[in-house]
This record gives sequence, C-alpha cells and structure tokens, in this order.
Amino acid sequence: MEFKEVVKKRRSTRRYTGKPVEVEKLRAAMELALRAPSSKNTRSTRLMAVTNLDKVHALGRLRDWGSSLLEEAGAAIVVMGDPEASPMWQTNAAIMATVLQLALVDEGLASCWVHVGDYLTINDDPSSQRSEDYVKDVVPEIPAEYRILCVISIGYADYTPKPLPDYEGPERILFAE
Ligand SMILES: Cc1cc2nc3c(=O)[nH]c(=O)nc-3n(C[C@H](O)[C@H](O)[C@H](O)COP(=O)(O)O)c2cc1C
Repeated sequence: MEFKEVVKKRRSTRRYTGKPVEVEKLRAAMELALRAPSSKNTRSTRLMAVTNLDKVHALGRLRDWGSSLLEEAGAAIVVMGDPEASPMWQTNAAIMATVLQLALVDEGLASCWVHVGDYLTINDDPSSQRSEDYVKDVVPEIPAEYRILCVISIGYADYTPKPLPDYEGPERILFAE
C-alpha cells in the first residue's frame, strides 16, 4: 500500500468482524515496527503478541472505561519498555506503537490504542489494581521488569471509519518566517 494511503486509512477502529487474525501478519507488522527510532538508539521497546482469545478478551477489563473493545478483538499486542535500557522508554514505546498501527494497516488489519500507563483498573477507586499489574496477571509471559505503555487492540474492521479531513485549518501547522 502506498505510504499516503496507509497514513490516511489508519483510524482507531473499535469494532471487528471476528475473523481470526493471522499470526504471520502480526509478525510482519511487529518486525516493521522494530525499525522505529529510539532515543540514543537504546531500542528499549518490547512487543508481545497475544493471540489466545481468552487472554485477549480478558484484557478488555484492564480499565473500567475505554478498554472493553478488546473483548471483541481478534488479537492484541502489548507495547512495553525496558526502563533499564532507557529513561525515555515511554516515548520510545509510543513512537513504536504508532509505527506498529501503520504497519497493521498495511497488513489489512484495523487497530486501536488502549492506554495502560499509570491507569487503575477502576478509575474512581485509588485502591483498585493497577492496569499494568492486571495485564501482567492476564499475560504472565510478560517479564516483571518491563513496563507497559499500551495494548494495541487488533482485528478486521467491521465498518469503514470516516476518513479524517484533509485540511483542518491553519492552527496546527505553522511556518516561521
Ligand atoms: C496516547 C493515546 C491513548 C489512547 N487511549 C485510548 C484508549 O484507552 N481507548 C480507546 O478506545 N482509544 C484510545 N486512543 C485512541 C484515540 O481515542 C484516537 O486516536 C483519537 O480519538 C483519534 O481518532 P483516530 O485514531 O481514529 O484518528 C488513544 C490514542 C492515543 C494516541
């Protein structure tokens, strides 16, 4: 797919057909995403694909808002960082997550970022489990020392999201004289 088409086609997609997601497509997208830049080339980001649907759907409860789309997803990729490798692990992981979402478009897949970070499983309950710990409970293969930025929810889109406008006005793009 042409680069401009990939960028324009990417939208956060939260409903999926239920068609199984091929592991080879996930692998291809993850391998491309590894080419993302990182601070001082520390390469601190780690990706873990989750294809066991019981686990994918359980990830939908990582928060009590904004994560239930995972209950319908066909796969997920956990985007993690090694804080020992770089103090910029979160920024590095965010850049890779974005490249990953574009690579998934190129594989014909739809996705949505589900944030983990410092969130709690129950937003209004400070004593509730941290979302990061919940994800590690659901996916025990994740090494304890890795931190989790987000989970990318993946599937075949059940609808065609509206494209974003080509031009939003002059507020966001400025040119210095
Ligand atoms: C840092 C970040 C965190 C996000 N967290 C969530 C989330 O937890 N749940 C969700 O449904 N969408 C999440 N999104 C998707 C945004 O809501 C989405 O990108 C935004 O509404 C713009 O829509 P678009 O991606 O289709 O252009 C997140 C996106 C980013 C970049």
